[in-house]
Amino acid sequence: MTASRRPRPSGPGRQGPAAPRRQTLGAHVTGQLLRLCETAGLDEAEGADHARTLIAALGPVADRPLDLPAPDRSFLSDDHTPVEFSLSFEGSAPPTLRVLLEPGCGADDLAQNGRIGLQVVRAMGRNWGFDTERLDELADLFLPDDPQGAFALWCALELRAGGTPKVKVYLNPAANGAERSAATVREALHRLGHRRAFDALPPGDRHLFFALDLGAWETPRVKVYLAHHGLTAGEAAGLSRAPGELDPALVRDFFRTTTGRVTGGAGDDARELRPFQSCHAFTETASGRPSGFTLYVPVREHAAHDREALDRALTVLDGLGTDPTPLLRSLPAVTSRRLEDGVGLIAYLGLAHQTGRPPRVTAYLSSEAYEVRPPRATALRQAVPVP
Ligand code: TRP
Repeated sequence: MTASRRPRPSGPGRQGPAAPRRQTLGAHVTGQLLRLCETAGLDEAEGADHARTLIAALGPVADRPLDLPAPDRSFLSDDHTPVEFSLSFEGSAPPTLRVLLEPGCGADDLAQNGRIGLQVVRAMGRNWGFDTERLDELADLFLPDDPQGAFALWCALELRAGGTPKVKVYLNPAANGAERSAATVREALHRLGHRRAFDALPPGDRHLFFALDLGAWETPRVKVYLAHHGLTAGEAAGLSRAPGELDPALVRDFFRTTTGRVTGGAGDDARELRPFQSCHAFTETASGRPSGFTLYVPVREHAAHDREALDRALTVLDGLGTDPTPLLRSLPAVTSRRLEDGVGLIAYLGLAHQTGRPPRVTAYLSSEAYEVRPPRATALRQAVPVP
């Protein structure tokens, strides 16, 4: 880990007047965040507050010069930037801006990574007046002394105008070994009073994340994320266990549009693709059923470049009658590269359904602080129109 150092004031550095100052990870991601806040309609003072929160949550790695490699192999994003942004669109309202981050990414090992994460979330609780009781109840389960797997703890902040951020915490079901993921999720749901929830989940290939809403939520959720390899549009539409108005045709169309599988044909081809994901959100214990469902398509695996990914996102927003302007403005807030010159700026597209609410579409935007994945030379599909 690099030593903590506050950014030096501007002006000539010690190396002489000609030495350019080294951009830091913190400056890079807060620059993106401030520009995104502006596009999301947050005022300057609010943006500055959120930028300070992000720097504080990242800790010492915020001061890490950007020309050094990523602080660790964070699985949060493809190029290991420990930060990812997202814009969530519901109906005709302006989108919500969110930021996902890994507070412990500068730690020497996963156990310390988790401890730092826990400290950072507890500090948010103290500052913003929420309790972390539900997280504390699960700490021994997900943050054991010798954790396994690809990460320990992430947190996401929903950045609101005129209020403290809403907080989400992501924990690793494989913390006690991948083979114990299902048992770990079952036990965690049990401890939180969701005794029948595990059996309500659809089949999946792996438990990826266990998430909790903390802080100022109207209806805090407990969420379980599953991986699904080789899905078809029809299978994707059959994954929701939430009662209510989600039209399976909407999920199928979303799947076809975002994967570019206009033929509606079979599942993945021979390539090893990142899996699709589903999320099942539980908000009450009485029914034993989830009240929310989200399908995530890793659009970067199914598009040649980000122009194609953006076009698909625009098609989806258009179908829901949502104003695409904020999404169009958010991309130049994050990068100055041409969309054709890489793939992965738009990492995922998600379609969410929560009982009683209109469908919600979320675009996940990579920071690309360290690397841009080159575009694929050829389109991945043959655009055969459905007869
Ligand atoms: N990078 C991880 C993945 O691809 C985790 C992740 C980050 C993720 N943002 C996400 C997963 C949005 C689903 C949706 O799995």
